[in-house]
Amino acid sequence: MSIDTLSREFPWPESKPLTQGDIHGFGINRALYDLIPKKDNPVFVEVGVWLGSNLIHLLEARPEVQVIAVDHWKGSPEHKTRGGWKKRLPHLWENFCVNVWRHKGSIIPVKLGAEDAFPILAQHEIQADCVYIDGAHDYDSVARDCRLSLETFPNAVITGDDYPHEPLKKAVHDVAEEFGLKVKNLGRLWWYEGRN
Ligand SMILES: C[S@@+](CC[C@H](N)C(=O)[O-])C[C@H]1O[C@@H](n2cnc3c(N)ncnc32)[C@H](O)[C@@H]1O
Repeated sequence: MSIDTLSREFPWPESKPLTQGDIHGFGINRALYDLIPKKDNPVFVEVGVWLGSNLIHLLEARPEVQVIAVDHWKGSPEHKTRGGWKKRLPHLWENFCVNVWRHKGSIIPVKLGAEDAFPILAQHEIQADCVYIDGAHDYDSVARDCRLSLETFPNAVITGDDYPHEPLKKAVHDVAEEFGLKVKNLGRLWWYEGRN
């Protein structure tokens, strides 16, 4: 079990979808690129991928990174209320595929919620080097994604987006306390320190 077996379980569509592509994103955290360990083909798990904007910038800066993209591509609860986000939901998956098609050799699209995806990553014996948490931003989802990441990947850097926003910030800190870790941040980017 390995990255190869995971990529066979979650293949790309056979051909590029016919949608136009739509590169809407939520901003870039360049400091993230330095949190990913410098080694051959570090494994980076992104939880909450949307249209792939973060991954495109990451792979331009760090082309050696092997990405596991975890999202059900149904949007988060907050995306169902605002017109600019809601209108994108019907073609989110197809437009993600179009946007990242040129990078598909570096990305495995695990089209599941994190709660279902992480046990599968564990079954495939994936050793992640870095997990970037940017899924749904309600307290329970953030706390779950943080716990799942810490429990599944004992050696990974665990980081995420949108630190200043509550209730996300409280969830990140509450889980840090459970695991005896410290939280650091640089603007929106946060990460846990004190592992190992
Ligand atoms: C803020 S967007 C991600 C933005 C993306 N990281 C970027 O920088 O462009 C949040 C994403 O989380 C996804 N999401 C919501 N619940 C999820 C879950 N349980 N597991 C994985 N992804 C989830 C949504 O479908 C949405 O695409």
